[in-house]
Amino acid sequence: MPDAVKKLHIKTYGCQMNVYDSERMAEAMGAQGYVLTDDPAQADMVLLNTCHIREKAAEKVYSDLGRLRPFKEAKPDLRIGVAGCVAQAEGAEIMRRMPLVDLVVGSQNYHRLPDMVAAVARGERPVDTEFPIEDKFDKLPERPATGRPTAFLTVQEGCDKFCAFCVVPYTRGAEVSRPVERILTEARKLVDRGVSEITLLGQNVNGYHGAGADGTWGLGRLVRALAAIEGLERIRYTTSHPNDMSDELIEAHAEEPKLMPYLHLPVQSGSDRILKLMNRHHTAEHYLRLIERIRAARPDMMLSSDFIVGFPGETDQDHRDTLALIEAVGYGSAFSFKYSPRPGTPAAERAGVDSDVADARLQELQALITRQQRAAQEAMVGREVGVLFEKAGRMPGQWVGKSDYLHSVFVSADEPMQGRIARVRITASAPNSLAGELIR
Ligand code: SAH
Ligand code: SF4
Ligand code: F3S
Repeated sequence: MPDAVKKLHIKTYGCQMNVYDSERMAEAMGAQGYVLTDDPAQADMVLLNTCHIREKAAEKVYSDLGRLRPFKEAKPDLRIGVAGCVAQAEGAEIMRRMPLVDLVVGSQNYHRLPDMVAAVARGERPVDTEFPIEDKFDKLPERPATGRPTAFLTVQEGCDKFCAFCVVPYTRGAEVSRPVERILTEARKLVDRGVSEITLLGQNVNGYHGAGADGTWGLGRLVRALAAIEGLERIRYTTSHPNDMSDELIEAHAEEPKLMPYLHLPVQSGSDRILKLMNRHHTAEHYLRLIERIRAARPDMMLSSDFIVGFPGETDQDHRDTLALIEAVGYGSAFSFKYSPRPGTPAAERAGVDSDVADARLQELQALITRQQRAAQEAMVGREVGVLFEKAGRMPGQWVGKSDYLHSVFVSADEPMQGRIARVRITASAPNSLAGELIR
């Protein structure tokens, strides 16, 4: 008996926007009878949803495609598609280098995936990376229930900031905010399907400026409208730019308890000279003052950031300025990357820092961040926090969830906790998680 159900394997690289897009691609193909599989060997179609942000990420796509070759040889009608930011940046190049690829679809076009798969069946090799006039979100099928209590919701896409190192303005295009009513409708539907925490997504999510019935809304106002939805208990947003942190949004942190006290606010460097070369349009001082205002509004705010080390022209003094900024802020967590020159970006024209020097700086910075992260976790011991439980742990009776501050928290409970929010007293801190007891 032939298998009537078709199986789709999606591999997702890069940021949460890609995670969200992968879910929506799975839904679009789900409407065509495809179900997801974790195993590429079982799949009738494999989609790589790719990231172009650093050279390693982009090159990985080609090696992963190479690894799919035996599957394609064993099953010639296996469909292989490349989506996401590498697709957007190098669509034609992928088709030329990788004959096994059947289709290339950009980040704004994946609502057309079913049509493209049909074109492949007719013997074509479609590439669709033009920015379309229509809004893909209007064309995608309704979102089904997933059983998970958390969901992403893209509210803003693209970027107009043009940081000198970054490909996103080229791969994702100009900043576009979705209209208020569409977002509220999608959020209400997610809540009806059992979601109690929504993370609003955008490359510059705090630059959100969507059309509302009475003019343009900023993110602060959108958050307040979302908070009025009954059954939606937690709101988060990522990623933010320091220059778009409006008073309205900071006030929302002070006044709206559903807005969680965790903020990812990338600064990239603590050196004004490097920030200028990076085209960031803010100084270290501006960032530190901003953090003060945010903490005045929400004293328990947990902060995180991204850092790039080894940006062209970075001296030891610049690096020490970055370490000093990290000391001054005190982060709950942070991501740090060695600078990677990207084609088409202004910084790629400049001579880079010696690779070994950059490696040493990265290690030093990461050691500092790790110390701060541990300290922030240790400081949770003895405190009471809200936890949204997401799944059962490995031990019998164990449940795992995320605290208000996004720490993983383990508890024991004799009743099912999945999807529930409970108060927990933290009793112990491990390297990457916390343990606690339910407060009755
Ligand atoms: N829109 C977000 C993040 C975009 S990419 C923002 O503005 O913060 C995520 C992170 O990747 C960036 O914050 C930056 O730290 C890192 N990154 C971007 N381009 C890079 C490059 N060329 N080399 C190394 N890291 C890079
Ligand atoms: Fe890239 Fe800068 Fe835009 Fe962030 S703000 S996506 S780092 S160009
Ligand atoms: Fe990567 Fe594209 Fe996200 S380049 S970080 S997947 S926007």
